[in-house]
Amino acid sequence: MTIDEFRTRVESHKAEASQHILGALDANALEEQRTHVWSRTVQQSFSKALGELPADDRREAGRLFNELKVHVEAVLESRRAEIASLQHALDKPKLDLTMPARARWRGGKHPVTLVIDEIVAIFRELGFTVALGPESESEWYNFSALNFPADHPAMDMHDTFYLGEGALLRTHTSPVQIRTLQSSPPPIRILAPGTVFRRDPFDASHAPAFAQVEGLAVDEGISFVDLKATLTLFAQKFFGKTRTRFRPSYFPFTEPSAEMDVECRLCGGRGCSACKGTGWMEILGSGMVHPSVLEAAGIDSERYTGWAFGMGPGRIAMLRYGLPDIRLLYDSDIRFLEQVAE
Ligand code: DAH
Repeated sequence: MTIDEFRTRVESHKAEASQHILGALDANALEEQRTHVWSRTVQQSFSKALGELPADDRREAGRLFNELKVHVEAVLESRRAEIASLQHALDKPKLDLTMPARARWRGGKHPVTLVIDEIVAIFRELGFTVALGPESESEWYNFSALNFPADHPAMDMHDTFYLGEGALLRTHTSPVQIRTLQSSPPPIRILAPGTVFRRDPFDASHAPAFAQVEGLAVDEGISFVDLKATLTLFAQKFFGKTRTRFRPSYFPFTEPSAEMDVECRLCGGRGCSACKGTGWMEILGSGMVHPSVLEAAGIDSERYTGWAFGMGPGRIAMLRYGLPDIRLLYDSDIRFLEQVAE
């Protein structure tokens, strides 16, 4: 062998060894390649060839051999480091992308909203549309136009949030009746859901802000029969088959006035603590629209008559879900809402 042949052998082994080492995909394969391309036998065969060279060439051959050794060991070491870091990434806790997701509650409609939606849906089938009014009202829309006498106790500072200069937070949704009567000629059939405000203490049965749904039907020839039939039908649709009764009542803006009761949801009419032993629960106030109310809104009360009602969806939600305390509806406690929201 000549020094040139030796050099060629070294070069080709360098190339072959690099190729094999870089082809190893894990630590075991790398070790296998190392014993293959850089075994004691391989090294010995180079030493042997070196020893057979003419004495003058051995120095150069030794340098070449040493260069080969440094090269192979460097390639081995860098591949070892690469494999170790790949292995480290693979050893991390495994993410199983096929695992089914854990079902989580993503929120839903509040029970009071559910009740309002249902009330609206029932009346919509009967031809009612939704009308909205402002939450800050004038004294005239909230009281005067609704035939409240000037000294009515509801206007008292204790009940009403006054905003100054004749403005207030509406204490009921009834002012939407006036706004509707002013803006659209009869026949009128509207439902007005919204928030109302009263300076009540916040306790188990009172909240300073709560929902109401107002209803109003005005046309020629509307009578108390329409009121009674419509509201009874509503109760049947909302609560399922139930007995209802009307009790005489008083509101300044209706004459005659009546409150409607449904059979107590909890005892089925036998009498329990929830219905205070009466077997009945009040769900709404209603009556024939007072002629003065029609006139205040510019409607001819000789020609037109109408009926109206107002109910509290919060109270109805309490009946429906058997809630002992109205504050459950306002606390936003997820543990409660998860059970009743849809
Ligand atoms: N506005 C009354 C209240 O807040 C509820 C009400 C009663 C509304 C009778 C009506 C009605 O339209 O006819 O207590």
